[in-house]
Amino acid sequence: MKIAVFNGSPRAVNTSAMVTAFAEGAKAAGHEVEVYHVGRMKIAGCLGCEYCHTKGNGACIQKDDLEKIMPAYKEADMIVYASPIYYFAMTAQIMAAMQRVYCVGKPVKASKAALLLSSASPAVYDGAIATYKNATGYMGMENMGVFTLNGSENQNPEKMAEITAFAKNL
Ligand SMILES: Cc1cc2nc3c(=O)[nH]c(=O)nc-3n(C[C@H](O)[C@H](O)[C@H](O)COP(=O)(O)O)c2cc1C
Repeated sequence: MKIAVFNGSPRAVNTSAMVTAFAEGAKAAGHEVEVYHVGRMKIAGCLGCEYCHTKGNGACIQKDDLEKIMPAYKEADMIVYASPIYYFAMTAQIMAAMQRVYCVGKPVKASKAALLLSSASPAVYDGAIATYKNATGYMGMENMGVFTLNGSENQNPEKMAEITAFAKNL
């Protein structure tokens, strides 16, 4: 399968380690993996102007890095959302990327999803997980798994191996 991974961190530290561990396993299993570092892209929030659903015929009126992630929305069979927790939520960057799918309604082919979350503290994930489950459920994607790492669990080799094993078995 074609797997698109959205990394919502502006940094390349803890969430990136989870993404790398995931990609390693998925590639070992023969999947094609494309990582989109949306946390470092310039993707604005949706304007709700409905241009995409009228004159735009599926294209967004805002010209920004959305274009870079459209292959994920058009071609991927699975989308993995990966983000640090910022104030009990996923980052603004990944939420913008998630919501700008509005121009095509939902990912065209993707039927599977997974979530990777990194944080400093434990027990901060409820909001992010609910958002992910509600949004991916609405978009017709099956949840394949949710991984959360906090504090010293971040970059822990055993935790990385768990994520790699998960990706190998998709
Ligand atoms: C703006 C901001 C808000 C944060 N909010 C939370 C939070 O609400 N709960 C928490 O446990 N960690 C919070 N953190 C810590 C990050 O989630 C944590 O350091 C994470 O591992 C960073 O991942 P990264 O290295 O991929 O950027 C916050 C960090 C920043 C910069």
